[in-house]
Amino acid sequence: MTDNSDLAALIRAIPDYPKPGIIFRDVSTLLLDGPGFRATIDRMAAMVPADTSLIAGIEARGFIVAAGLSYALGLGKLMLRKPGKLPGEKIGTDYELEYGTDRIEMHLGQVQPGQKILLVDDLIATGGTAMAGIDLIRRGGGVVDTALFIVDLPDLGGAVKLRSAGVESRSLIA
Ligand code: PRP
Ligand code: HPA
Repeated sequence: MTDNSDLAALIRAIPDYPKPGIIFRDVSTLLLDGPGFRATIDRMAAMVPADTSLIAGIEARGFIVAAGLSYALGLGKLMLRKPGKLPGEKIGTDYELEYGTDRIEMHLGQVQPGQKILLVDDLIATGGTAMAGIDLIRRGGGVVDTALFIVDLPDLGGAVKLRSAGVESRSLIA
């Protein structure tokens, strides 16, 4: 059993980005490493609840994680997109980021009533983005009780926020 310190070592920390005082955990260096990314997806796949029937990824970096898990597990994936990208009938949620505000949208009719959906992203910080994803999936009729991330920044309280909404956060690295 690994503590995933090998993967943590592939993620670089950039101070004062995008604003002074924020230490940005940059997964681009992990994504550059083929064996590192494969190990990331393999280890995350082992953490996916057995009753999951769809993977929901949040644009943009969450798509990379969702695509890997979708392929590894043979599950479909649902795109939760930044505004103005989805052509069909959709719903949206505005949310606050650690450093600004944003919005994500989801197509209507792509979630079955009661379908068990796993929310994935590269990283959870304040949890605002993940909470918006949970809100969209639930409004669309899906069930989400677990979310999976490469990185959790626990000092920013995201996992606690998700827990209060009945969603368990799992991550490879804290
Ligand atoms: C980052 C990250 C998560 C979110 C985490 O995405 O990929 O989606 O922020 O922050 P939070 O827990 O405080 O909400 P970002 O909005 O930078 O977009 P990107 O994936 O398009 O780079
Ligand atoms: N790294 C990457 N994405 C983020 C971070 C971070 O430290 N904080 C909020 N989104």
